[in-house]
Amino acid sequence: MDTFTRLITDWYRQNKRNLPWRHTSDPYLIWISEIILQQTRVDQGMKYFLKFKKNYPTITSLANASEDSILNDWQGLGYYSRARNLHYTAKFIRDNYGGIFPSVYKEIIALKGIGEYTAAAISSFAFGQNYAVVDGNVFRLLSRVFNVDMAIDTNEGKKYFQSLANELIDPTNPAIHNQAIMEVGALVCTPKKPNCLNCPLSHMCLAKANNTIHALPVKAKKTKATERYFHFLIFQNNTEIVIDKRIDKDIWQHLYQFPLVESDSFATPNVDFFKLNHTVSKEVNHLLSHQKIRAKFYHFSAIPEELKDTWIKIPKGTIQNFPLPRIIDRYLENNEY
Ligand code: ADE
Repeated sequence: MDTFTRLITDWYRQNKRNLPWRHTSDPYLIWISEIILQQTRVDQGMKYFLKFKKNYPTITSLANASEDSILNDWQGLGYYSRARNLHYTAKFIRDNYGGIFPSVYKEIIALKGIGEYTAAAISSFAFGQNYAVVDGNVFRLLSRVFNVDMAIDTNEGKKYFQSLANELIDPTNPAIHNQAIMEVGALVCTPKKPNCLNCPLSHMCLAKANNTIHALPVKAKKTKATERYFHFLIFQNNTEIVIDKRIDKDIWQHLYQFPLVESDSFATPNVDFFKLNHTVSKEVNHLLSHQKIRAKFYHFSAIPEELKDTWIKIPKGTIQNFPLPRIIDRYLENNEY
């Protein structure tokens, strides 16, 4: 075993967190956990993992569930295409692999929603195969330990860090090596205040020696959040309320919302509905990773005669049964309607 592996795995055995997906080698549960954790912190992801494990204990049960039920259970996690891909792939595995998760790397990476990182995670954690994981934690740790300023969001950088990870992995126990390198990255080699005093690699860390830790990793693109202005129309009478399903390829695809008019500002859009008598909420903001949603809710005490094609009337108390974007759910929790 290489020194690198010995240092991180010794540290891992003593310091690892007790996480539910580490007690299983079921590829299905490992897959679910990795998809949840892609854009979600571990403490938040945990309750969603346990909910999915309970509500959909097998691939076939997930495949046979309704999309609304899955999106409902995903509510609050964001990036809903992850949940739709989970459903799609569960059905694919049910129909093409008899409900058994494939164990061949080429077949795993061919599945919808599974990229290089997730395929390596499932292959190593579930099947003990020698594939190195490179997630955000690993990029950061490797860029620092080896003092590499190549941008991690370019093809060249990705290739470089993947080949570095491939050289380092321990073929006799790839699962523990992968868990360990991610865990040191997540708990010690953190973005802002790395804990170098307790780092098993600090004596060999070239960024520490060169005082470049805070400049690494390097990214080529700076992402800037775009602002969007949403005017939600709440049409209701004493018994019914109008909702709409988002079908476009955009945020919150397939979730339900109030009828929406989007515009370039908070100025009242030039649409006939706004001429009807209404009251309006104060501004509600919702931050996504690349977008800032600025919303207002317009309350109408009647339902128009003519509804657009995709609008549906539902009994007032049943709206919470539909998968809703977090901003709507929170508005309903905090306001009388
Ligand atoms: N982040 C992504 N995958 C993880 C895992 N298996 N354990 C802990 N954190 C993770």
